[in-house]
Amino acid sequence: MLQVIARVPAKINLMLSVGPVRSDGFHELATVFHAVSLYDEISAVHADAVTVHVTGPYTDQTPADESNLAVRAARSLARRARLRSGALLRVHKEIPVAAGLAGGSADAAGALLACDRLWGLRMPESRLSSVAAGLGSDVPFALIGGTAVGTGRGERLRPVPVRGELHWVLATADGGLSTPDVYRRLDDLRSDRKVPAPSVPGELLAALESADLDALAVLLHNDLQEAALALRPTLKDTLRAGEEHGALAGLVSGSGPTCVFLARDGASAGALAVDLAASGTCARAVAVTGHAAVGT
Ligand code: C5P
Repeated sequence: MLQVIARVPAKINLMLSVGPVRSDGFHELATVFHAVSLYDEISAVHADAVTVHVTGPYTDQTPADESNLAVRAARSLARRARLRSGALLRVHKEIPVAAGLAGGSADAAGALLACDRLWGLRMPESRLSSVAAGLGSDVPFALIGGTAVGTGRGERLRPVPVRGELHWVLATADGGLSTPDVYRRLDDLRSDRKVPAPSVPGELLAALESADLDALAVLLHNDLQEAALALRPTLKDTLRAGEEHGALAGLVSGSGPTCVFLARDGASAGALAVDLAASGTCARAVAVTGHAAVGT
């Protein structure tokens, strides 16, 4: 029996510049998405209807009904292709839920890639990306991985080159943060300010292209961090611990609560992960590499 497997990485945002709220309720963004080597695996086999079975450490926190993003993705693809096909999806989750790492988006992208193959659709990338955008702002990036500038609400993508291997530590928390809550808090925090149009500094892209870690360290930035810290003040302890244990820089990933730290090399990342886990300021700490690829 044909089985298609997709392996889709988590993402962090190296820059997340949040502009004003648009008339559709979303915020205009300029961001640098960066996939990291922590993966969910999504497999698909033929079945009468679309259903999902979830395994891995986050099974309890992941819905296994039609609200599951992988199920919504497969159904949405079938609708777009005018098919009545079904699939049994198996999602093995290693990416924590509601963590600012786009784990749900990874599952949606994996389901799209796996079902596209399973059903023999070979949908052009642009069409698959438009189905992905209908599922969530981060899903189009999850289809391509690597590193990309995202604009619009995050769905318009331009891949960017990265030289060498970047090493990061992800410090995850117990209990997620709701993305809409974090955006809302940001709006409250800056209700008295004029919000400029979002932008990604060219220096950041140059630092990625030339593997200049010291330049990169000072350019990492997340506009949502202030709001995430207001909602979860203990994240300040996590960020401080990372700094004390030698991270080149640390910031909240996306809407949080995961904190991400840049390390000089793989050995430093490994040591930092051990120190952060022992610091008691996070639930888990794991060393990963950047610019991770999507696999099918
Ligand atoms: O697109 P996605 O479903 O991931 O968005 C989740 C929530 O995050 C949205 O409902 C919205 O509250 C917020 N969001 C936003 N602007 C964006 C992306 C997300 O306000 N560009």
